Order: sequence, then C-alpha cells, then structure tokens
Amino acid sequence: MLLETHTNLVIDRDIEQFFNSQSKYTYEEYILKTIQHIKSFLDRDQFYSGDLISDFGSKKHLITPNSQVNLTIDEALKEVKELYLDHTIAFHHPNYVAHLNCPVLLPAIIGDLVASSVNTAIETWDQSTSATLIEQEMIRWICAEMKLPDTSDGVFTSGGTQSNFMALLLARDDYAFKHFGLNLKENGWSDVVSKFRFFCSEKAHFSIRKNAALMGMGYNAVIPVPTDDKMKMESDALVQAIEKEKQLGNIPIAVVATAGTTDFGSFDPLETIAKIAKEYGIWFHVDGAYGGSYILTETHQHLLSGIAHADSVTIDFHKTMFQPVCSSAFLVRDTKHFKYVSYYADYLNPLEHRDEEFPNLIEKSIQTTRRFDALKLWFSLKMTGAKTIGSFLEKVHYLALDLYYNIKDDVCFEVVHKPELSTLVFRYKVPEVTSNTVHDTINLYIKNKLFKSGQASVASTKLDGKVYLKFTLLNPKSTIDDLLNIIQMIKDTGKNYKTIN
Ligand SMILES: Cc1ncc(COP(=O)(O)O)c(C=O)c1O
Repeated sequence: MLLETHTNLVIDRDIEQFFNSQSKYTYEEYILKTIQHIKSFLDRDQFYSGDLISDFGSKKHLITPNSQVNLTIDEALKEVKELYLDHTIAFHHPNYVAHLNCPVLLPAIIGDLVASSVNTAIETWDQSTSATLIEQEMIRWICAEMKLPDTSDGVFTSGGTQSNFMALLLARDDYAFKHFGLNLKENGWSDVVSKFRFFCSEKAHFSIRKNAALMGMGYNAVIPVPTDDKMKMESDALVQAIEKEKQLGNIPIAVVATAGTTDFGSFDPLETIAKIAKEYGIWFHVDGAYGGSYILTETHQHLLSGIAHADSVTIDFHKTMFQPVCSSAFLVRDTKHFKYVSYYADYLNPLEHRDEEFPNLIEKSIQTTRRFDALKLWFSLKMTGAKTIGSFLEKVHYLALDLYYNIKDDVCFEVVHKPELSTLVFRYKVPEVTSNTVHDTINLYIKNKLFKSGQASVASTKLDGKVYLKFTLLNPKSTIDDLLNIIQMIKDTGKNYKTIN
C-alpha cells in the first residue's frame, strides 16, 4: 500500500527529466529546441534591450514557495527568452566594450555542454578518472608555456580572485613555517602574522586587499607601491616600500606583480621584481588574470619574461582565452606548496590511500565539489589551437592601439595612456570647461545613457579621483569602425548633455 502511494507521486514525464539512457531522445529534443532560442539571442541587434529593472518583475515568471509548475520545454524556453535571453548582456556584440568579458569559442561551449551533462566532479579520482588527467594535461601545458620548472603544478579555480587568494595563503603559510616554524593550517593565528606584509602596485586588482582581509590580515597588510606614467610598478619604490616596512618592524613576505592591470593593461617589470623578491627571500606571485594568456602571442611574450621565476601565477582563461565562465587556474612553482591547502577526509581521500597513480585534485584546491572546467579549454586547444588564440589576442591589442591613434589628438577627448594590452582609458572633454567635477558628471552621464538606451556598454573607472571611461577590447571580430561608431555615440551624448543641462 505504502509503495503504491510512493509510486504515484512521480509521473513518467517527471522521471524523464533526468539525464540517462532512457531520456536520450528527450535530451536531444531539449538541446535542439534550446539552440533555436539561443540563435534568437545571437541575432539581437542591440547588446542590451535597455529595459528598466521594473520591467523584469512580471509575476508569471516568479516561482513561489510550494508552487508546482509543470511547464513543457517550449513553455519554459519561451519564459526564459522573455525574462533573460531578450535582455541579458551580449558580450559578443561589438558595442559591448565594458569589462573583462570575452566572446566565447564554440569548441569551449561544447566542452561546457559535455562537462555539465556528464556532471563530472573533478575533486577525486573515483569521481572523475580520466577527467583528472585532462585537467592535469591543461595545467602541464600552461606551466610549460610559462616555462615554469618541472616541479610546477596547478589547479583550476573559480577565477582570478580565488587564485590570488591561494597565492597569498601559500605565501603566508610558507613564510610562517620556514621562518617561524609555525603551522598555521594546524594551529591557526599567531601574533607575528600581524606583522606580515604583501606588496603590490597601486593599480593591482582589488582582490589582493580583499583576500588579505579574508585571511584575517586586513587591508593594511597590503602595501601599495607607486606606479610610473605607464601604470607599471616602480621597482625602486618597491625596494623603498620593503625597507620602510622593515624599519617599522613589519615583515615583508610576498610581492604581487600584475601582468595586465585591470584598467590599463599594464605589465609590471617582472624580471626586476623577481630579482628583488629573490634578494629579500620573499614569495613572488604574478597576477596574470588578464595578461597571462598573452604568453601565446608574439607581440607580448617579452612582457611576460620573468614569469618563469614566479613562485605562483594566476591566469584567467575566461578573460583572455575566450572561455565561458568559469575557467581559471592557479599555478605554483613547486607542487609541494599545495600542502598548505590539502586535507584528507576519510570519506573522500583518506591519507592512507594516498596514491600518486590515482591523484585526487582536491588536495590542491580550496573547493571540494568542483566543475570540470578544463574540458572547455581542452576542446579549444584541440579545435582552435593556441597559436590562433594568440592571434586573436594580438588582434584586440592592435584594435586598442588603432583606437588610441584615432582619438589621442581629438579635442573632445583626454586619453590617459597608450594601450599596452587591449584597454583604453580616456574621458570626454568639453574644451571650454575646466572643472573636473563637471567632467566627472558628463562622463558618468554618457556611460549611463549609452547603457540604458541599449546602444553601447562602456565602463568607467577613476584615476587620481577623476572619472574616466574605459574600453576593454576582447572581441577579435570587432573592427575599428565599430569602435569609432561608439566614439561617435559618446561625442553625440556628451554634446547632448551640454544642450539639455
Ligand atoms: C588583474 C586581475 N586580477 C584578478 C581579477 C579577478 O578575477 P575574477 O573576476 O576571475 O575573480 C581580475 C578581474 O578583473 C583582474 O583584472
């Protein structure tokens, strides 16, 4: 009797929604229908519908507690189109030039589909088998591109923020162990850690400070080092900052060099910083979240020379290798340093069953359940190829340069820098207006107006307290005419501001 009641709870159509051998035709139907809807997203002529937040609140799409909806695939796709696909930001659109979001490669999407469908969890051998080997192959490949030694190793992470977190953690725990015999993983905080200091340029990504805070060390554990007029860390200033902290009784433990700063795409002088780090016996981390992929180019490889000396490296494939989010890696010069994050759980990877032949990647990660993100990259390297990916990166760099030469002498613009990578920071100027506050207001007006109208998405940032606009170019299909078209929109909107205010 009880069994019958239970059986009645599940109807055939529901049970078919699981991915298994009985549902393969339903799976095919769902995927094919979904592709039709995604095609309409690709055909949109604006990067964004320009709808207001209040336009999204249509009640029929809400899922309320205890509600049981049984939409068909067609009905669900219709709703997702109305709620999401018709409005979400299209990173492949030439008028999207705001943040570090790239258009994605088709092979990478296939990799994602396979990984999501199969649902491999990469953390232990017994959940992933050969998937573990594929992740390791991708790690070995990128370590070799960076010319890291044979002892090097790495792990896929959720992004640059997590990779930078791991770098700071390993640097801290290694220093504490080597110099003070402390085992922070086992015993937790020690007073001397309050004196530990990280150094990075004042243009480094905010995740360095944020991670220091998350590690209980606070923002003040990160010492910002001044940059030169090309937005690169000044090596003399680094030495001065290290010496000053020592005089104050603090303990320098690591320097973070940025290979491609978020706003300016500038590369810190890696060779020189590597030497300074060695001299002071401190950890050398390279945050190559943005610029690390440029190791695949002929144009920028020289800017990464010195990365081979790094103790650790951050690289984001989801920024500059055209991968869907997430796809990122944390690399370390010596695999033994992963001991600071490893944990042996009886139910997953018991210490007594530790076996080099059947690796458990959980021992290198701060995550437990983890997606098989390496498969996307594997598909891309196999089908698109590293050289071609490098050529896409060169293309977006030259686009940024081209744009720079087009607007640098224009009286309507103040351009901050010649692009080293693929960003351009500038601001619209009204020649007869001198007030910075007025220019701040106009530039924010331009950015918001273009976004809200769905015409173009341009980022804004601040330099010396002043508001600037920023183009981040990651779309190799864009042309200089596409970009000049946005420039014209900026001018028109700026002029319009003058007349209506
Ligand atoms: C230089 C740099 N490092 C780290 C990050 C953080 O990366 P993620 O957003 O993948 O966490 C970014 C993001 O823009 C970045 O530009």
